[in-house]
Amino acid sequence: MKIFIDTADINEIREIKDLGILDGVTTNPSLVKKTGRPWKEAVEEILKECAGLPVSVEVVATDTEGMVREARELARLGDNAVIKIPCTEAGIRAVKALSAEGIRTNVTLVFSPLQALVAAKVGATYVSPFIGRIDDIGYDGLAVLEEVISIYEVYGVETEIIAASIRHVDHVRRCAELGVDIATIPYKVIKQMFRHPLTDVGLERFLKDAQEAGIQI
Ligand code: G3P
Repeated sequence: MKIFIDTADINEIREIKDLGILDGVTTNPSLVKKTGRPWKEAVEEILKECAGLPVSVEVVATDTEGMVREARELARLGDNAVIKIPCTEAGIRAVKALSAEGIRTNVTLVFSPLQALVAAKVGATYVSPFIGRIDDIGYDGLAVLEEVISIYEVYGVETEIIAASIRHVDHVRRCAELGVDIATIPYKVIKQMFRHPLTDVGLERFLKDAQEAGIQI
């Protein structure tokens, strides 16, 4: 499973990239707002820092023409820019046009397998089911993700699935079990993936025994 970080914070991106586990970045307008930085400056810095890795950047227009125009501008900011387009009818038309131009897209705000199906039909590079937000309204986000995965498998769809809106480490574990292509994970959750209380307890005991046995390397 590829690991993307779901953030617009350059320091979080740098730290996870330095760990050697980062395969890409996803941003959205809310995440950029959280950084408090001017939008263009934040996005350009991420694209530069992550040269060679896909970085999803979202349009804000809601009509097809506007989305396509914004997408073309964003695509010019870096070879690694992937354009996030919301899963609306206007968005699907925009993805169709952008696919024909060879501009990579990530269809976002996907909450059902049928939305994922139409996104694939118009050649989306990625599709992002939002599992946490589905859980938030009392449904099962992972079940929706599983349906998307099986439908894509049946038809040999090439669009890659990004499990998005991940809230905790158990979401990540289940995503990996389901064999999803990519999980885009918030910084705090990525950090938790390294940790287990038994590792801390075990290490403490080994270090104590090493000291008592006079082990020095
Ligand atoms: O980047 C899209 C998605 O991951 C947002 O997550 O936590 O705002 O539902 P969240």
